[in-house]
Amino acid sequence: MARINDHYRKLRAGYLFPEIGRRVKAFQEANPKARIIRLGIGDVTLPLAPAVVEAFRNAVDEMATAEGFRGYGPEQGYDFLVDAIRKHDFEARGVSIAQDEVFVSDGSKCDSGNLQEIFGASCRFAVVDPVYPVYVDTNVMAGRTGPADESGRFTGITYLPATEANGFVPEPPAERVDLVYLCTPNNPTGAAATREQLARWVAWAHANDAVIVFDAAYEAYITDPALPRSIYELEGAKECAIEMRSFSKRAGFTGVRCAYTVVPKALTGSTDTGERIPLNALWSRRQSTKFNGVSYPVQRAAAAVYSEAGLVQTAAQIAFYMENARRLREGLGRAGFTLFGGIHAPYIWMRTPRRLGSWEFFDRLLTQAHVVGTPGAGFGPSGEGYLRLSAFNSRENVDEAVDRVRRAFGA
Ligand code: MLT
Repeated sequence: MARINDHYRKLRAGYLFPEIGRRVKAFQEANPKARIIRLGIGDVTLPLAPAVVEAFRNAVDEMATAEGFRGYGPEQGYDFLVDAIRKHDFEARGVSIAQDEVFVSDGSKCDSGNLQEIFGASCRFAVVDPVYPVYVDTNVMAGRTGPADESGRFTGITYLPATEANGFVPEPPAERVDLVYLCTPNNPTGAAATREQLARWVAWAHANDAVIVFDAAYEAYITDPALPRSIYELEGAKECAIEMRSFSKRAGFTGVRCAYTVVPKALTGSTDTGERIPLNALWSRRQSTKFNGVSYPVQRAAAAVYSEAGLVQTAAQIAFYMENARRLREGLGRAGFTLFGGIHAPYIWMRTPRRLGSWEFFDRLLTQAHVVGTPGAGFGPSGEGYLRLSAFNSRENVDEAVDRVRRAFGA
């Protein structure tokens, strides 16, 4: 008898975004004339930047020649990409990262879900609440939690509520945890931690021998130059943090798939007997066993993001989405909604009107305005009473969505 992994049964039947997709599809089938505007899943809408496309094409052409053909690549990524990452994302900000500390992958979703495998089953972890659901769900699958209660909180997880009162950036927990997931700028609230706030997290991790899994997938959307873009800008972070970055939102790679994770060699975990083991070696072992790398053309396309033209073109894409965010924030703000985020992230975190529940507001938004958002409760119990709007769409759709929401629900 093939026994299933019972931990899966602790999870809600469907992952958040497919569940939204199912409801939207049902509505569209019942109302074929409705023109639905999708501000739900944070999926980019602009085409790839010309510099990226050119590099992508050239690499495919190379693969079509006997001299240029490549089979399996280096497991952690080609040097040309790893070196571009080190130079532009770290050296430019005064941080030195070694070649073998960078692991190129096919997405931060996979990395953030897989990283928990290198930690012991008894590790206790904390998450900011609300947050990207992958951190919690993958730890539930791995058996690190008990069941969920009625509010959706799993026993065994320390939830750190991100609220209006703390500006959606919680302080480190008083209770002992071994691992914490931080996402800043945050998905879904859009809040970005300041240097001082991150410094407190790093100091806490050192004092508690804890590891921070730092998800910086949205760092390119930070508009305030004083905010840290990498946790390694903070003194001592290399001894306590893993950082994930992605080309998905930064350069429109959601369908192309490329990201990377930095695991510093100075970062260690402990065995039962107290022996210290570098996490870099464990992650390398995990990746080389279960992953065969990102394709050569995709890595060439990613490296082109750092070319002179690539930097200019992708910055223009980000500016376009951030103008959408401004229109959502200001347009809906004028209509009386209470909104957060949208300044350092492509997400607007909106308080539901008239204290509606997240899913109830989601359904009303869909049926009355034909606009799709993401219910805040889908990101964790503290997201109840909020809805996330994504700025990834055309200007025309964003402006029309503001109008429709204002007409349907405005104060
Ligand atoms: C989101 O909408 O939260 C993201 O697109 C999900 C992801 O990046 O996997």
